[in-house]
Amino acid sequence: MDRFENKIALITGSSQGIGAACALRLAKDGCDIILNGHKFDERGEKLIAEIQDMGRKATFLQADLSKAKEATKLITDAVAVFGHLDILVNNAGVEKKASFWEVTEEDYDLIMNTNLKGVFFSIQSFVNYCRKSKVAGTIINMSSVHEEIAFPHFAAYCASKGGLKMLTRNLASELAQFNVRINNVAPGAVSTPINQDLLNNKEQLEKVLQNIPLKRMGKVEDVAAVVAFLASDDASYVTGSTYFVDGGLTYHYEEQ
Ligand code: NAI
Repeated sequence: MDRFENKIALITGSSQGIGAACALRLAKDGCDIILNGHKFDERGEKLIAEIQDMGRKATFLQADLSKAKEATKLITDAVAVFGHLDILVNNAGVEKKASFWEVTEEDYDLIMNTNLKGVFFSIQSFVNYCRKSKVAGTIINMSSVHEEIAFPHFAAYCASKGGLKMLTRNLASELAQFNVRINNVAPGAVSTPINQDLLNNKEQLEKVLQNIPLKRMGKVEDVAAVVAFLASDDASYVTGSTYFVDGGLTYHYEEQ
């Protein structure tokens, strides 16, 4: 039997990178999939075809998750597509490099609205659906090792992921009464378009790898495997946690 028989998952920001890998992994394990992004393009088309080839249903819903109204509506639309919704993966996220003293209000708003506010209201909408329809939903937020460790020149990003850490801790307590579980996955350095500058800079990349005990960048599939575990009944006693998928980076200690 498939791990996710008759389950429907919505993965935000899933045209590429970690989100696309999560969609493919959940589909492989038996989920029907709702993809999301700013716009539907050939990446979405290709993913839908791949998922359908696995014998699963797939569709794409356009929404800008930096806007609370669109985040709320996305859940309603997602429920309408296949009739119900079991798994919400809040993956969409943005980062911008700037020294703290140069961060603009516009960039601050973009980062906080996408990484925290949109997630807050998509969860609220999903929880209202779960309460009304008596669905034992599960939520996975794509956080970052930077919910825990510093990242100079990315203050707004760290604040947004730090916010996600406490949002998840808090909601685990508040939502357990509805049988809704919520957890964070915190990737370290993963090879995706978000890290293109790093991947193009050999010297910088070498420095990053020195701090990773497993001495390699993460693959999107490494992250998706943990998301699939947390979404499944294998994790039925797991809520309010963060799972680090970072090759040991977060708690790395260099022996002197
Ligand atoms: P990515 O940039 O390849 O993909 C992010 C996706 O989110 C893109 O498809 C983008 O269009 C979408 N997106 C952004 N803003 C959106 C919005 N307002 N509405 C709808 N979609 C939106 O990034 P990647 O690396 O796949 O990251 C995914 C998540 O993982 C993010 O939350 C990121 O912060 C987190 N993460 C990534 C790490 C990495 O090393 N790649 C490390 C730690 C965390």
